[in-house]
Amino acid sequence: MILDGKGLADRRLEALKGKIKESGINPTLATVLIGDDPASALYVRMKHRACEQVGIRSVNVQLPGDVSTSEVLDRLKTLNEDPDIDGILVQLPLPAQIDTHQVINAVNPAKDVDGYHPVNMGKLVGGLPGPRSCTPKGIMTILNEYGIETSGAHAVVIGRSVDVGKPMALLLMLADATVTVCHSKTKDLPSITKQADILISAAGKADMVTADMVKPGATVIDVGTNHVNGKLRGDVDFEAVSSIAGAITPVPGGVGPMTIASLMENTLEAARSRCKPAE
Ligand code: GUN
Repeated sequence: MILDGKGLADRRLEALKGKIKESGINPTLATVLIGDDPASALYVRMKHRACEQVGIRSVNVQLPGDVSTSEVLDRLKTLNEDPDIDGILVQLPLPAQIDTHQVINAVNPAKDVDGYHPVNMGKLVGGLPGPRSCTPKGIMTILNEYGIETSGAHAVVIGRSVDVGKPMALLLMLADATVTVCHSKTKDLPSITKQADILISAAGKADMVTADMVKPGATVIDVGTNHVNGKLRGDVDFEAVSSIAGAITPVPGGVGPMTIASLMENTLEAARSRCKPAE
């Protein structure tokens, strides 16, 4: 079975458009794009296009590639204090001279639609409500919508990044999976991945998950967005693995569109929370 993230994302966006209309609120998302990396610029454009599709107002703050950390922090302060802005997304990765931790920490947690702020990460660890990182959230939506059982399943996550691997493992634990996290120093990776009922690869290495690493019938989720000879390739050797897996996401058209749909959902949620009177 092909897990059609694009089709699912389109349906979620359509539903969200209706919810936004009904809500009577006009959510606004601010993106911050630093430098001129073509992939980052493309992702930000896609996010703005999705905003337009669902009725979210969006603004982009474009900063030069040689900007300093303190200049970025100043811009974030303005966005944090702007009552018209509900959500803030700083497109990562940032240029080398910028302190990414300081930047993430400077986003108002109530406007943190990426769920990267330590306060929101802490809520995730504690199982408390809060914005969840968009890619792991989108993957949980795929699993739920396709009826893939997480309770009691052995989920193996390849990658331990703050934006995907770690929040993914935590969300799977909250969904009662038994979770193993693997990474670049893991010994005998195939012996572990072969045990997975759900295998999630966020390694960032094209075609590294091969058929001999997958248990027959497993669900395989490919987070990879690797650019090889001008083409987008996932982490998974799709041709070989799709004949063994029970279900698999393609690249493109799998996890990527669900990341954007989750961002739109988080933006509406941030706007809703901010509209609520303080308790
Ligand atoms: N870069 C790649 N994916 C993402 C994402 O989901 N959020 C942000 N802020 N940057 C990214």
